[in-house]
Amino acid sequence: MPAWIWIFVIITGSLFAIKMAYVLCTAMVLPTTQGALFVSTSRARIRAFIKAVPMKTGEILVDLGCGDGRILRQAHKCYRIKAIGYEVNLMAYLKARVLSLGFKNIEIRRRNFWSANLSEADVVVCYLYPDVMKKLSAKLKANLKPGAVIVACNFMLPGFEPSRVLHPAGTLHSDPVYIYRTG
Ligand SMILES: C[S@@+](CC[C@H](N)C(=O)[O-])C[C@H]1O[C@@H](n2cnc3c(N)ncnc32)[C@H](O)[C@@H]1O
Repeated sequence: MPAWIWIFVIITGSLFAIKMAYVLCTAMVLPTTQGALFVSTSRARIRAFIKAVPMKTGEILVDLGCGDGRILRQAHKCYRIKAIGYEVNLMAYLKARVLSLGFKNIEIRRRNFWSANLSEADVVVCYLYPDVMKKLSAKLKANLKPGAVIVACNFMLPGFEPSRVLHPAGTLHSDPVYIYRTG
């Protein structure tokens, strides 16, 4: 068989295997994620809310469902903060771990964030699914310290009044990013 056929078969097979791994990893955690798939926020959107939420060196940012950890890395690079991500999807978790190698102040935890203690967090970021936002509001109200900032991508947190709503320019979808401050 000519070499190009082998190359084609290997590339197509690899892409298929990656897709299957994504489907499997996503399906396995659906009862926990309740519909929040492993989809990443665009870098333009992350840049926009990181700029809108200045942080001091040493403060703690937590991403509830951190995907590949890009928000953690971008916020850390910008403000030298400590960044913690919770992620249950194995594929997302492994990708986040690999991409964050060498970052000393980034911690990726393969854990369900519903059992996380968020009392030390200065900024909490979430990009989840509408069905969980009401339950998340209750957790954040009970857990967060006064003055903590919440960044909610795409979906509002019921019971909170946003202090700002961003519509980052230059993004493919101009879905809102809601910023809240706890009282
Ligand atoms: C839409 S993605 C967002 C990823 C990342 N925050 C970003 O904006 O690029 C949501 C992620 O949350 C994770 N997730 C959902 N519920 C979770 C839970 N209870 N504990 C940990 N991770 C969760 C999913 O596996 C998924 O990777």
